[in-house]
Amino acid sequence: MNYLVTGCSRGVGLEICRVLLEHGHTVYGVARSYTDEFKKLESEFDNKLFFKSIDLGDSENVHRNVFKDFVNNRIQLHGYVNNAAMAYDDIVTNLKLDRLQSMYSVNVFTPMMITKYVLRNMLLHHTKGSIVHISSISAHTGYKGLAMYASSKGALEAFSKDTAREWGGWEYAVMWWFPVLWKRL
Ligand SMILES: NC(=O)c1ccc[n+]([C@@H]2O[C@H](COP(=O)([O-])OP(=O)(O)OC[C@H]3O[C@@H](n4cnc5c(N)ncnc54)[C@H](OP(=O)(O)O)[C@@H]3O)[C@@H](O)[C@H]2O)c1
Repeated sequence: MNYLVTGCSRGVGLEICRVLLEHGHTVYGVARSYTDEFKKLESEFDNKLFFKSIDLGDSENVHRNVFKDFVNNRIQLHGYVNNAAMAYDDIVTNLKLDRLQSMYSVNVFTPMMITKYVLRNMLLHHTKGSIVHISSISAHTGYKGLAMYASSKGALEAFSKDTAREWGGWEYAVMWWFPVLWKRL
């Protein structure tokens, strides 16, 4: 099966890639840097792990960068792991709009756009796939200095839950489409 994993260059994302590869899957990884750790994993799983350097802060060009130039519709996607994220840590009284917008592009806007195209790929191929968004405990617990970061994870969680209602199972699809069809009849 084919998985798209963002933030594959290090940390949690790299380990997610490793686990998927160990289970025999093919992984399409995205990050900005092509790290030595990633290259080592690539050498262990020849022809099963692919990489493209993309700045996910560029939400406007995510369709071209990820889906036209890398994971096009000929590749049937079975899963998307939205792991890439950045943290804008500061106290709220120091909040700067440009830094907040940059973080929201990586943590929220781009994952929402990628979800759109992953769903379209799954619909095209009639795939019952999985979409996983990596959140943070800070969205629930509350920490000093993490209000901006936590808010982006809270937005992501809400998006994830509502996407699941919309597309997560046939009963949700019926709930969504039935009123639309009803109005058209
Ligand atoms: N580590 C923790 O304690 C912790 C706790 C709670 C939640 N999380 C969540 O778990 C996930 C992974 O965390 P981590 O600790 O493994 O993070 P990390 O070590 O900072 O790695 C972040 C990954 O995201 C990629 N990334 C960041 N900005 C990017 C951009 N603009 N474009 C493309 N790729 C970008 C980085 O690659 P490049 O820099 O090469 O682009 C890297 O591969 C994140 O969603 C994080 O919020 C982590």
